[in-house]
Amino acid sequence: MQSVKAIVLMDEIYLDNHATTRTDPRVVDGILPWMLDEFANSGSTTHAPGRRVAAKLEECRANIAQLLGAEPEGVVFTSGATESVNLAIFGVALHPRQKRRKIVSVVTEHWASIDSLKKLERLGFEVIRLGVEIHGPESIGMLPIDEVELAIDGDTALVNVMLGNNEIGTLQPFSALAALCRQHGAVLHTDATQAVGKVSVNIAELGADLLSFSSHKFYGPKGIGGLVIHPDSMSIPILPQILGGGQQQNLRSGTLNSVGIVGTELALTLAVEGMVEENARISRLREMLWSELKKRIEGLQLNGPLWNPPIQGMSLENSHPNPASSSAHFVADPHPAPLPARLPGNLNVCFPKVDGQSLMLRAPQLAVSSGSACTSSEPHPSHVLLAIGKSEDEARGSLRFGIGRFNTESEILRAADVLGDAYEELSRFVA
Ligand SMILES: Cc1ncc(COP(=O)(O)O)c(C=O)c1O
Repeated sequence: MQSVKAIVLMDEIYLDNHATTRTDPRVVDGILPWMLDEFANSGSTTHAPGRRVAAKLEECRANIAQLLGAEPEGVVFTSGATESVNLAIFGVALHPRQKRRKIVSVVTEHWASIDSLKKLERLGFEVIRLGVEIHGPESIGMLPIDEVELAIDGDTALVNVMLGNNEIGTLQPFSALAALCRQHGAVLHTDATQAVGKVSVNIAELGADLLSFSSHKFYGPKGIGGLVIHPDSMSIPILPQILGGGQQQNLRSGTLNSVGIVGTELALTLAVEGMVEENARISRLREMLWSELKKRIEGLQLNGPLWNPPIQGMSLENSHPNPASSSAHFVADPHPAPLPARLPGNLNVCFPKVDGQSLMLRAPQLAVSSGSACTSSEPHPSHVLLAIGKSEDEARGSLRFGIGRFNTESEILRAADVLGDAYEELSRFVA
């Protein structure tokens, strides 16, 4: 079989880890037996192969639940975050027992939420979309809690607020928000797609009722994710959106994606185990990219919140954890550190006087994104950048970098050189 690698330009630098991540080779190794040998349908419990797969998936479900602060029955596997977000939003709003007609959300959500909420609006729901902080260097993109206080009331069915922003990396503090939702009896759903596996995420501590994630964002396989339910919120009525064989307590029918579930469990275990060291390394690479770009480009602006200072004394070069050290029964820290203000691998910058797409064309060896992956094919400036007070021109002149596990210091230095040269060429052209 021809290696795919052979047809990839060898000098490519992948810095789009918010769009997706490379599947960790340890995850690939771990899932192969569940494709080649133990391939039975976990629903086929009349025979031994089916029962073996079913037992493995229940073990994975329990481990994933434990890593995210849930009970095993509180993990519903889906095809990814888009489906999970749809299940949370439509499942809560459209349940026949739901009498409330109001939804509170934020302008900076991902399209999975935005488009689902537009549909609810067409069905007669009132949707309130709150703005975010545009001042205060460490809180740009955060949801002001007093705005929620004004918007929420006894008719609010659902509050829908993402945990980590996919464009500017803002991490939303949740404790006051969760308390408000509880006080008003509103369900709190968080799209935690960019946060799970990147920062410490525990639904019980966050206080959200529902949480969505996608495994390919944390070095797991594509096409698998989940909706996680808080242990105290198991009785929230959720209307299933995919009907059929009644799997997963009827919440999401369809043959369980055994390969995806095994891969998710492995990827999440590895991410949680290596998180502290990996984040120190990645945030230092981000710091390096930012300062190297600033040296080369006058007037470069940071979009989004300032980050906390990087942890000192950590090696920058690739230090992947030893595969032998990974344990399937890793126990999460019960008292994780508070969330930083920004996702460690996120950098979003505005290049003065040029267009981000044109810059990308002049740096074809770089894989970066102008806006979010799902919107980068359309010409509109990013709704997130506009929401934090950027002009249309500034938004069009911005690029998002997602630094991840497999990036190295030399790639970062090369990316800064390539972009510096591309910017110089382009700005001469537009001057
Ligand atoms: C914040 C956020 N939510 C939801 C999604 C959708 O995830 P998926 O495409 O895996 O369904 C993404 C993907 O970019 C995302 O970044």
